[in-house]
Amino acid sequence: MAFVVVITGASSGIGRSLALAWAKRGASVVLSARGQEALERVAAEVRAAGGDALPVAGDVTVEEHRAALCERALGAYGRLDVLVNNAGRGYYAPTLEIEPEKLEEIYRLNVVAPVRLAQLAIEPLTAAKGTIVMVSSIAGLAVAPRIGPYASSKFALEALSMTLRAELASRGVRVLVVRPGPVATPFHEHAVVIDNDVGYRPPGHKAQSPDEVAGRIVRAVDAGSEVLETSLFVKAASLAVRVAPGPARWFSKRMARRSGF
Ligand SMILES: NC(=O)c1ccc[n+]([C@@H]2O[C@H](COP(=O)([O-])OP(=O)(O)OC[C@H]3O[C@@H](n4cnc5c(N)ncnc54)[C@H](OP(=O)(O)O)[C@@H]3O)[C@@H](O)[C@H]2O)c1
Repeated sequence: MAFVVVITGASSGIGRSLALAWAKRGASVVLSARGQEALERVAAEVRAAGGDALPVAGDVTVEEHRAALCERALGAYGRLDVLVNNAGRGYYAPTLEIEPEKLEEIYRLNVVAPVRLAQLAIEPLTAAKGTIVMVSSIAGLAVAPRIGPYASSKFALEALSMTLRAELASRGVRVLVVRPGPVATPFHEHAVVIDNDVGYRPPGHKAQSPDEVAGRIVRAVDAGSEVLETSLFVKAASLAVRVAPGPARWFSKRMARRSGF
């Protein structure tokens, strides 16, 4: 029986690379994103790579699309092994200039949609003893100037994922939190950015390729991992904020000064 994966944000970047990585293993991949044409293109790539593809275009912040995505996946394949909550968007602005409506929009996509999809998919995931992948970020643990609106959404996703992992353990459903650092995708082009400024970034944050990140995610699902930090940069930053919070706060202020605050 085929391995079935639902991926949100599958038309671009990390989501597309994930779809192709699972396709190469012969998986059935259910693809979600708003733009139908791009989704159809990825579906064709998935089929060419040896997988089965079911594109379901729609907006994951809309309940009807979330329900349709789960129903159509189950209707087509009768099972669900992995739900990848990958669709997400950045929002970079000084905290004092955050627009509440934009913040709510980002939270609906980065926080509410992943939780709601986990709720809707829990029965087939339980039957398959499957995995929920939550694509967080190093920004789910560490902050930089102007990153508050985006980082706060990923901090929330981290807390919900940690809770969900504990609550689902008795069902045999795993929750894998993925923390990429910078990845070479159109993510910044798609982000809400005030004054065309994403703020000062720490040195050493070389972008990874989405294919490399996707390969690591697929292997982490195989291994039953609970957390995946995708690069040395992420591991170092993650360690620094935990073991040296004082110096991390100092460094944060230094980055803010360099960003003109
Ligand atoms: N790239 C990075 O540097 C980086 C670093 C750390 C974490 N991440 C995380 O990785 C994930 C994927 O990012 P990426 O870099 O691959 O970004 P991306 O290339 O911009 O892709 C985003 C995907 O999400 C879809 N999407 C956006 N809004 C949606 C909505 N309302 N409903 C359904 N789909 C929607 C987009 O398609 P449509 O626009 O057609 O809907 C697209 O397929 C995000 O959660 C992001 O926070 C990225």
